[in-house]
Amino acid sequence: MKGLILSGGKGTRLRPITYTSAKQLVPVANKPILFYGIEAMRDAGIREIGIVVGDTGDEIRSAVGQGDRWGVSIDYIQQSAPLGLAHAVLESEEFLRGTPFVMYLGDNLIQGGIRNLTEEFQRSRPDSMILLTPVQDPTQFGVAELSGERVVRLEEKPARPRSNLALVGVYMFNDSIFEAARAISPSARGELEITDAIQWLIDRGLRVDSHIVQGWWKDTGKLEDMLEANRLILDLLDTRIDGKVDEASKVDFKVVIEEGAEVVESTIRGPAIIGRGTRLEHSYIGPFTSIGDNCRVKNSEIEHSIVLENSSILDIAHRIEDSLIGRNVELSRSPLRPVAYRFMLGDNSKVGIL
Ligand code: DAU
Repeated sequence: MKGLILSGGKGTRLRPITYTSAKQLVPVANKPILFYGIEAMRDAGIREIGIVVGDTGDEIRSAVGQGDRWGVSIDYIQQSAPLGLAHAVLESEEFLRGTPFVMYLGDNLIQGGIRNLTEEFQRSRPDSMILLTPVQDPTQFGVAELSGERVVRLEEKPARPRSNLALVGVYMFNDSIFEAARAISPSARGELEITDAIQWLIDRGLRVDSHIVQGWWKDTGKLEDMLEANRLILDLLDTRIDGKVDEASKVDFKVVIEEGAEVVESTIRGPAIIGRGTRLEHSYIGPFTSIGDNCRVKNSEIEHSIVLENSSILDIAHRIEDSLIGRNVELSRSPLRPVAYRFMLGDNSKVGIL
């Protein structure tokens, strides 16, 4: 089997972070989301992976490389425009044709990997296999209607969903999907929907199997989902302290402190991860927090948050919670008179002050 990871698209819901960076490269527990997808494929025995990229292609190429570090080979497929998941499949046809493949949405995380799923697909050889999971608000997803175990209808983000079973962003296909993707028309949002292409397979009597996902699954498109994904992954950490922790500091529960990090007169209550070269001084890092590489946190408290590399948080009087802080951000107190807040925020930033 080959693998296809979709890493194009726009990422509007994670702005302003995604103005300057691909949403699939935002880290969860200090590792880009996209890497979890590559690892899931590698662990399922897939060695040839195509990554579909769009405007952020250069950044993705330089973060991922040719795949040597995972022992896989990676080809990049430049999508001409973000015209939908089925469009991405069509533009990857040359890479994929002739081999069954698994498609993985680059902003999805699925617990427990995909090995048993790819094995089941290869054993039972349907034309397609989709993964489903019950969700609170199905209007945000592709939704499946089942009759027994058979998929009878799929609808993309329906206003009135017929079930609570959302399509998870991992799909398996054989060559029939190319004909389907060519046959459908763009949806109301102007995209060639993979959901409609799979419905086309069903309408033609082709076999589409479904599998209900047992573990957790996250589409990390929004801030709350990102924080939850971070929480779920951090919970799986084992303690590893490669950096320096001074005697006055306290480190509790599952905490990873990477090499070159320094913890001075601080408390870290895990699960948490502190990146390489980061210095914490007189601070509190609470549960479910990922602090990236080369950050500085001084006289501050932060919990249930993600901080990306090279940022500093200095002398902030109140605890920071539920936050996603980008790269090279500076949060500090201003000594200047008049006493005032001084901001330089990108478009679509969100700030909540006390
Ligand atoms: O996350 C699961 C959901 O993913 C499914 O339930 C939906 O049925 C499916 O349509 C999809 O919905 P989204 O609206 O969340 O898809 P999104 O636009 O976020 O794109 C998913 C990934 O594919 C993301 O990593 C960007 C990439 N992509 C997207 C488009 C539209 C491409 O590479 N090319 C594209 O043209």
